[in-house]
Amino acid sequence: MIIGVPKEIKPGEARVAMAPSGVAAFVAHNHTVLVEKGAGVGSGIPDVAYTAAGAKLIKSVREVWKRADMIIKVKEPVDPEFSYMRPGLILYTYLHLASSESLTRKLLEKRVTGIAYETIQLTDGSLPLLTPMSEVAGRLSVQKGAQCLEAPSGGSGILLGGVSGVKPAKVVILGAGVSGSNACYIAVGMGAHVTVLDINPARLRYLHDIMGGRVTTVMSNHATIAEEVTQADLVIGAVLVPGAKAPNLIPKSIIKQMKPNSAIVDIAIDQGGCIETSRPTTHANPTYRVNDVVHYCVANMPGAVPRTSTYALTNVTLGYGLHLADKGWEKAMAEDPALKKGLNVLNGKITYQAVADAFSMDCAEI
Ligand SMILES: NC(=O)c1ccc[n+]([C@@H]2O[C@H](COP(=O)([O-])OP(=O)(O)OC[C@H]3O[C@@H](n4cnc5c(N)ncnc54)[C@H](O)[C@@H]3O)[C@@H](O)[C@H]2O)c1
Repeated sequence: MIIGVPKEIKPGEARVAMAPSGVAAFVAHNHTVLVEKGAGVGSGIPDVAYTAAGAKLIKSVREVWKRADMIIKVKEPVDPEFSYMRPGLILYTYLHLASSESLTRKLLEKRVTGIAYETIQLTDGSLPLLTPMSEVAGRLSVQKGAQCLEAPSGGSGILLGGVSGVKPAKVVILGAGVSGSNACYIAVGMGAHVTVLDINPARLRYLHDIMGGRVTTVMSNHATIAEEVTQADLVIGAVLVPGAKAPNLIPKSIIKQMKPNSAIVDIAIDQGGCIETSRPTTHANPTYRVNDVVHYCVANMPGAVPRTSTYALTNVTLGYGLHLADKGWEKAMAEDPALKKGLNVLNGKITYQAVADAFSMDCAEI
């Protein structure tokens, strides 16, 4: 199969869909990999690293799309990428179709075979191609939160870990899932006093056990959230209700009672945010203030660390990509129900129920 890896063109996106080691793996499986010149530069990967791994460097993005049987990307396609699409082309990338009717209709019109990273799902319900980005966002949230607390950022000027003789900051994390746990590891590692809230006692028990008592775990409800958040220096929102908009856990009335110049990092902003005063921001303009609380609500946090994010992403996309290339999508999906869940659009029809539901359209059986 011929695999195409174009440079990402969505504003602010510096990740690339394949690392040189991935190229080497596809080439070892007798596939051809076409990489657009400069595709890896944003992630610190020079063109020579791709050629050394066996890729063919292509100057024209149109040629990459035209010659490839399967395009591997990071973000959903944007203009002018639609003009390169053709019926039967396999598009393997994050698609997030349920949030965009216009993109869905474009892909249907172009009759591409759209396989979405975010809907590949294992039998235990986990989403293996989303998990690494939640790990990145969780870890980064503490770094960003610590910066928000610095005086030049308008924060209260408290050092997360304190020093001998001076108390550390109090960090409150809402959600003990993938991103919340990762935030917890980093915050504890930096010496902060950390409290984690969740509605799932099993998640709290797990964190309590592995952190050896270095974190306080609290069952999440309106009263405990209000109590913890109003004492916090840094609040990290990391909740998820699968398939739904994030719940509003911190109303404005609680924000008003927070410490002056404290900070909030709302990781869940990509699902609408779990704090009433959250609104999406960008890496160029990441923070704003409401009631003397610094808010950081960047919707694509992994974009701040494209090098780590590229490797974290490609580590998990490569295996499924190889199956698709080796066997063709039909056989690969027939053998792997997790991968089959990734198929969102095929031959002008929606094949993923939640996407069809989002636009009251029909869902075709595969
Ligand atoms: N901003 C970004 O760049 C970025 C990057 C990656 C992920 N995310 C988002 O971060 C969010 C969390 O992702 P995740 O992978 O950690 O999810 P996850 O499913 O692993 O964890 C979510 C946790 O929230 C808990 N929860 C649900 N309702 C709660 C409540 N009322 N109180 C306390 N806890 C509650 C769940 O029990 C679960 O443990 C998602 O919205 C995801 O899309 C954002």
